[in-house]
Order: sequence, then C-alpha cells, then structure tokens
Amino acid sequence: KKNIWIDCDPGIDDAIALAAAAASRDALNIHGISTVAGNQTIERVTNNALALSAFLDLDVPVVKGAEGPLTRQKEDAGHVHGETGLGNTVLPKTSKQAEPGNSFQLIRDYIMNLPEGEKMTLVPVGPLTNIALLLKVFPETAERIEEIVLMGGGTFGNRTPTAEFNIWGDPEAAKIVFDSDLPIVMCGLDVTHKSGLDRKQVESLFNSEGEVQKAFGEMLKFYFDSPAYINSELVHIHDAVAVIYLTNPEIFKGMQVSVDVDCTDDINRGMTVCDVRKTAPEAGRNVTLVNDIDLTAFQNILQAKLGSL
Ligand code: BDR
Ligand code: CA
Repeated sequence: KKNIWIDCDPGIDDAIALAAAAASRDALNIHGISTVAGNQTIERVTNNALALSAFLDLDVPVVKGAEGPLTRQKEDAGHVHGETGLGNTVLPKTSKQAEPGNSFQLIRDYIMNLPEGEKMTLVPVGPLTNIALLLKVFPETAERIEEIVLMGGGTFGNRTPTAEFNIWGDPEAAKIVFDSDLPIVMCGLDVTHKSGLDRKQVESLFNSEGEVQKAFGEMLKFYFDSPAYINSELVHIHDAVAVIYLTNPEIFKGMQVSVDVDCTDDINRGMTVCDVRKTAPEAGRNVTLVNDIDLTAFQNILQAKLGSL
C-alpha cells in the first residue's frame, strides 16, 4: 500500500478527494489529514475536515495547519464553496477533535516514524503553506518523501488568467516546494479541466438512496451552480484528480518539466512557469506536468468509488 498524507482546505472538491481516498483504502494507507487556510478560514476548513473524516469513517488524525500564507494576506475562495466551505450541506456533528500541536510537526513525526525503508507520499490539495514549512523546518523529511502529488498550478489560471487558486494563495510556499528537487506530480488545471462529472452524473449521485452519495451529490450540485461553471458541461472536481492519480496513474498522461513560481505582485502573481521547451535543461525537471486524462475512465472510477461508500 502507498503511505499517504493529505493536506487540504475543504472545500467541496477537497471533500470529494477525501471521499475518493476513503474508498481506496485497499490501495492507500492514509496516515493523516492536515488543514490549511484556502477555500475558507482555517477554523472552517478544519471543522469540515473533522466532520468529513467522521462521516467517511476515516479513523485518522486531523491536525490544524497554517491560518494564512507565509508572507501574504489571506483571501478565501468566496462563494465558490459557500460560506461553510461545503455548499449548503450540513454533515452530522462529530465529537472528533483535531490533534494538538501544529501540522508540520505531526506530519514530520508520521514520516520519520514510518517503518524502515518506507516512504510517505504527500497529497496537498490546497495552498502549499504547510508543506513549505515542513520542508524548511524539517529538511530531514525530504529523504523519506516518496513524491508530492499535488493539485495546483498549470499552464493557465483560474484565480487570474495565469494563476491557479492554490498557488496564487501562497506563491512563496509553492516556490519552496517546487524548488525542493523532490519528485512532484502536478495535477493542475491542464488536467483537471479535462476531468469531472456531467450534470446527469451529479444528479444521479444526488438522487441515490445512500446518505453518503446524497451528501456529495448535494455538494457537487452547489459547486456546479457557482459562477465558475457557467457554460461548462463538466464540474471539475480538481482535488479528486490527485487522488485518482494515486490509484490509477495509467489513465493519465504527462511530461517532465521544471516549474518556477511568479512571486511578484504583478499580473502573473502565482503563475507556475512551466518550461515545456524541448531544449530546456534536463536539470531541474522534477515535475510531472499532468496534462491529459481518459475522461470516461475517470468518471467510471470516481463514480464507482463514491458508490462504494
Ligand atoms: C483549487 O482551488 C480550490 O478552490 C479547490 O479546492 C482546488 O484545490 C482549484 O483551483
Ligand atoms: Ca482544495
């Protein structure tokens, strides 16, 4: 099994990513979940992560992470995920509590306490603040990190014409992560915009008998109705793509590139500058820019996973 740690800001698509991970426990050993301010405040996303992990029967630690970017002002995703972060969906109350302490200390402990010879795959699907802190404060963890499979970035943007929301939110953190030399799989907008579910598929999830399927169907309906999806045939469930990449890498295509991050305050703030030139230097190509997906396979796999919960 793959050892994974999920870092997220739930967030509707983060919620689906957690659900997809929970449905993949035969292949994924989920060690824990950390939260980061992104789609909503750190309090809200942490409450959502706790409620989701209880709802999904995911008996893993949840720890609160950074309440804002390394150097910038925090700005959330506003109405895209609703005021709570999960649309209008109200999950059952849980008595589950976040672990004490900070996220990067706990992630470090879980990485360093893995059995000898085993490594951790990090799966960040929000701004990269916690991961940058982990790598800076505990550089010894790098050797025990298998790879970082993240949702963020791409060769175009959504928060701005050139920047994707997670990277735009904390460009300095993203730069630390991309500069780390660790193997990184970037499931950015190039691939997430080719993936997703259509209206009929979301409806059928919403109309299903199961409580779990209904709740996720309801969240996706809310997400689909946000301004981001005007004129879109698919609702892009960005963060779930990173999880499906872990279980089904065979349905994706990508290329090895180097990535730099625009950390200015200019129009390209938060842009992931991907060097796709054939003549680019070999050194520094530590990033797999995932740029294609078998859509039907993705839809079948995701629906089967959600249906199995
Ligand atoms: C990313 O931004 C957030 O709103 C989503 O949860 C996803 O992680 C997509 O750009
Ligand atoms: Ca997210």
